[in-house]
Amino acid sequence: MSVSLMFQGVSVLLLSGTTVSEVFLNVSPNRQQFFIRGSVSLTCVNDGCPADGWTVMKHSGGHNMCDPGLRDFGTVSGSSVVLTDLDNKDISFYWCENSDGRMSEYTSIWVEDHVILDIPALPVMTGSNLTLRCLSRDGSAVAAFFFINGTLVGPEPKAELKIASVQKSDEGAYACTAVMYGRSPVSFLRVRDPPSAITALAPSTTHLQVSLKVSPDLQQFVKGSSVSVSCVEDGQTVDGWTVKRTIDNKTLECGAYCSMSERWVGSSCDLNGHMTFTGVYWCETRSGLRTEHVTVTITDRPLILEIPALPLMTGSDVTLLCRHKGSSVAASFYKNHSLVGSGSELIIRRVQQSDEGLYSCAIDEYESVWSWLRVKGFAGFELTS
Ligand SMILES: *[C@@H]1O[C@H](CO)[C@@H](O)[C@H](O)[C@H]1NC(C)=O
Ligand SMILES: *[C@@H]1O[C@H](CO)[C@@H](O)[C@H](O)[C@H]1NC(C)=O
Ligand SMILES: *[C@@H]1O[C@H](CO)[C@@H](O)[C@H](O)[C@H]1NC(C)=O
Ligand SMILES: *[C@@H]1O[C@H](CO)[C@@H](O)[C@H](O)[C@H]1NC(C)=O
Repeated sequence: MSVSLMFQGVSVLLLSGTTVSEVFLNVSPNRQQFFIRGSVSLTCVNDGCPADGWTVMKHSGGHNMCDPGLRDFGTVSGSSVVLTDLDNKDISFYWCENSDGRMSEYTSIWVEDHVILDIPALPVMTGSNLTLRCLSRDGSAVAAFFFINGTLVGPEPKAELKIASVQKSDEGAYACTAVMYGRSPVSFLRVRDPPSAITALAPSTTHLQVSLKVSPDLQQFVKGSSVSVSCVEDGQTVDGWTVKRTIDNKTLECGAYCSMSERWVGSSCDLNGHMTFTGVYWCETRSGLRTEHVTVTITDRPLILEIPALPLMTGSDVTLLCRHKGSSVAASFYKNHSLVGSGSELIIRRVQQSDEGLYSCAIDEYESVWSWLRVKGFAGFELTS
């Protein structure tokens, strides 16, 4: 169990280098590895204060077992959990989550009998100096061999491993082996830039033939729907382009939410219908070329406007539908806040650039989210009517 969890620990943490919110799981003492029968306190913190409405969660048995009432999950008080008398059952990932499904970064907690690596649980800021030590059962630092990403650092055992001015490239899997005591578990060091400006979205680049494809080709989804996003050209996925997105003003790669089974399959990112994934998505190359962006909304609103995510070709026809709890219903359709039609569907024939705009539908007291209808011309020539 420990091996597969350890493997997962490294791979999950490799993927989760970015936070989803300002809330984080504070681990006190700030370590990832603990001795059997030790104790640790986990608190959801926002701006230095306990985060109201956030709960400490624990991953267990391949599911997100989030019930703080679980008998083996420590003593819960508000947004804190104290794990005492630590043993193997406490080895897991922990994070904070609120009722909307927003999550903090993960922290893995390891429990070991003989030797542990004193490695911080919280991400280390770039530029800071870090010292890692190998600790024996009585808490004293012992001379040890240190390993980074499985590679031995230096030929001699050392009292400590110092890393001056930590950089993103220092992220990796760390462990130590102390002669006579044995080998520590492996933990992942995370490095984060100090809080910085928000990534602004570049204006759309119009002549690119590559598009963000949302599958199914819609922009609004009911919570729980299965949605995947990828980068396509002429309907085929393209190499060299990656799906990026901004959620809550932070740019995150796909895969940042592993516990919600978000994952890359081939070149597309599978979202699992969690409302947290609502955000602005686009494709980008390494050199910074970007496609137009699409706002993907995953909502628990009863009303959903069915509107394509891919830009429409000028001259094509499109039908917009309004769905109430899954069934297509007669509704009023709005464009840029003006009523443009009512009935069971809104058909736009021979789409023109001027049909671009924000659309929504409404029935009675319900209104859908607003989404952009996008139109693109054929590259190289204009259509004449
Ligand atoms: C890191 O260590 C170097 C050399 O000892 C020192 O000059 C520097 O100020 C330290 N940086 C920080 C952030 O403590
Ligand atoms: C460890 O491996 C990861 C993933 O391959 C890499 O990003 C990181 O830079 C490596 N760390 C070190 C210190 O070599
Ligand atoms: C995102 O940033 C914009 C501009 O800085 C700000 O107006 C907006 O409130 C931010 N949204 C969130 C969810 O933080
Ligand atoms: C709708 O609003 C968008 C953005 O403000 C604008 O580009 C578009 O021309 C508008 N369409 C109409 C018909 O007003």
